[in-house]
Amino acid sequence: MDIQVNQRSDYTFKYNQKLARHGWLRLTPAYSVKLVTEMINKISPESFILDPFSGTATTGLVAAEQGLQAHCLDINRFLIWLGNVKCRNYSFSELDDFNQRIKTTIHQCKFLINQECWTPEIYNITRWWSTHTLKIIAALRQALVSEFGEPKEGDVSSLAWVAFCRLVIETSSAAFNHVSMSFHEQVTRYEVEQIEQLYQSILEAIINSISHPLAGKATVFYADSRYSVSNDVKYSHVVTSPPYPNRMSYIRELRPYMYWTKFLDTAKEAGEIDWQAIGGTWGMATSRLQNWDSNGIELSGSLNRIVSQIRESENKNARLMAKYVEKYFYDMYLHFDNLRHNLRDNAVLSYIVGNSSFYGIPVKTEKLLEESLHQLGYTNIGSNVVRKRNSKKELFEYCVYATWKEF
Ligand SMILES: C[S@@+](CC[C@H](N)C(=O)[O-])C[C@H]1O[C@@H](n2cnc3c(N)ncnc32)[C@H](O)[C@@H]1O
Repeated sequence: MDIQVNQRSDYTFKYNQKLARHGWLRLTPAYSVKLVTEMINKISPESFILDPFSGTATTGLVAAEQGLQAHCLDINRFLIWLGNVKCRNYSFSELDDFNQRIKTTIHQCKFLINQECWTPEIYNITRWWSTHTLKIIAALRQALVSEFGEPKEGDVSSLAWVAFCRLVIETSSAAFNHVSMSFHEQVTRYEVEQIEQLYQSILEAIINSISHPLAGKATVFYADSRYSVSNDVKYSHVVTSPPYPNRMSYIRELRPYMYWTKFLDTAKEAGEIDWQAIGGTWGMATSRLQNWDSNGIELSGSLNRIVSQIRESENKNARLMAKYVEKYFYDMYLHFDNLRHNLRDNAVLSYIVGNSSFYGIPVKTEKLLEESLHQLGYTNIGSNVVRKRNSKKELFEYCVYATWKEF
């Protein structure tokens, strides 16, 4: 391994935070606009890009900014909604109308504070927001619902909801010092004028960031990328960053947004989404994993060896983690298998993935995915290291690439 490779924070979500639409809401596992730009900068205008693991739609948005066409897929309805809000053009007249309506809506907040406004069923909610702040946020939410209704696709009022999500996170005690989210010790008490001001400034920044129309077109759809990609479209490029086998739950970080926008009602639903997510292990996803079986489908010999080594490790969760790793590669295999139906001849695949390790046993994600691609008849397969991850010393990110040739 080339020990000269460094952490390259410009190749992480951090690079995106001040970049217009890309910076609206953070998702730690989002990849960097710079990296995506480098991956697609030589793509011709006739290309059709697919991102089967869209997340915050970084690929779709970079593609649309560069005048290209893209389809993006995800299983998380909040991310699909957010992605489509980010990748849409907004006309002057609809923005004008929206600006008038939002002004009066914000002023309604004051009058609703002492009413019983809805708050989400977030476990231990006062750990996130003080009781006083909660009342104000709930009142603002009520004002938005009365004026625009709940968040919906294709409506300019979605901008108000994105700003609301940003407000919710900025006023919370959530701390993002680590890879996974944690909490500050204390919650801050905000007054109504502060919340109104903060909301207005967030909204202003969002509206400023959409002043440049997008030259291309990207759309985000709901799909489970293990099974279905899309009916009859054939793509020339797949540019994506799927989940890694590292037990990261996307729902964990997205929970506050998803509850407040009613994309999520219960903890049970969160577990359901994580079970569908490749590499998901939140709540019920873990208990279901115990009973999961590959139905005798054999993947590569090297995967079997790694899975057995993990299973035989001295740890009470060793069997479960062995299943976790096995299922991750099984799901990625299903994805590569089904993907073939939607690829043009000579389609090029670029997957940004991270390696992992369980009880000291290295899981070389890039090599194991290369083997799956090989088994499925892809050609020109390889990988190169992109960056070192900050956590453990042996963790890196790679770009796994391949080409699909029709016979
Ligand atoms: C690493 S994130 C992608 C981040 C993205 N590149 C970005 O910049 O925001 C992986 C995404 O894959 C989605 N996902 C996981 N399993 C999926 C599946 N079976 N089908 C479709 N999407 C899935 C997750 O919901 C998550 O949004």
